[in-house]
Amino acid sequence: MRTGCTLWFTGLPSSGKSTLATELAARLGHRAEVLDGDLLRKDFFPELGFSRADRIENVRRAGRLAAMLAAHGVVVVVPVIAPYRSARQWVRQLHIDAGLRYAEVWVDAPVEVCAHRDVKGLYAKARRGELRGLTGIDDPYEPPDAAELHLRTDHTTVLECLAELRQLVDVMCAAETAGSVWH
Ligand SMILES: Nc1ncnc2c1ncn2[C@@H]1O[C@H](COP(=O)(O)OP(=O)(O)O)[C@@H](O)[C@H]1O
Ligand SMILES: [Mg+2]
Repeated sequence: MRTGCTLWFTGLPSSGKSTLATELAARLGHRAEVLDGDLLRKDFFPELGFSRADRIENVRRAGRLAAMLAAHGVVVVVPVIAPYRSARQWVRQLHIDAGLRYAEVWVDAPVEVCAHRDVKGLYAKARRGELRGLTGIDDPYEPPDAAELHLRTDHTTVLECLAELRQLVDVMCAAETAGSVWH
């Protein structure tokens, strides 16, 4: 039995957030949902840009959505950069206040490794001067100081990361009582 919870995957572009979130959710199967930052921005918040205020608002909305789903028993995986510590803390507090389980996962690789992977070509664009305000290059990334899990994706394989994530889910989302409860 599992209960709802939110796992926030924070980290630099190309650190591995989307890869791990999708693979984890696929393995969890029923009642797991991925709220990917790219998809949220495109389909739900297209008016938000990458200013500090818009980045904070993006995280706030993603957090609200995650909490709504977690409250209904979903394991919500949120691969969203969320570069600012204070915005991540806001989302954590939102969950705590609602009595919901929450964990931060730092999907971490050195910026040189991320820039080499460059899954979406963003680092190359920034290098050519075609993109301003890329997190980790010319926009800040504030590393977590108390993440529940720290994954170094530059020297851990996807499968090894997934094993650690699976353990986290088992601890975080274990239902205290088996069976259904009527209110
Ligand atoms: N341990 C790992 N965890 C996650 N991704 C990894 C790992 N090792 C290598 N990669 C690779 O790094 C890239 C990460 O891309 P992606 O998941 O889209 O990053 P993000 O969503 O953080 O921008 C993928 O090409 C993935 O195959
Ligand atoms: Mg991604």
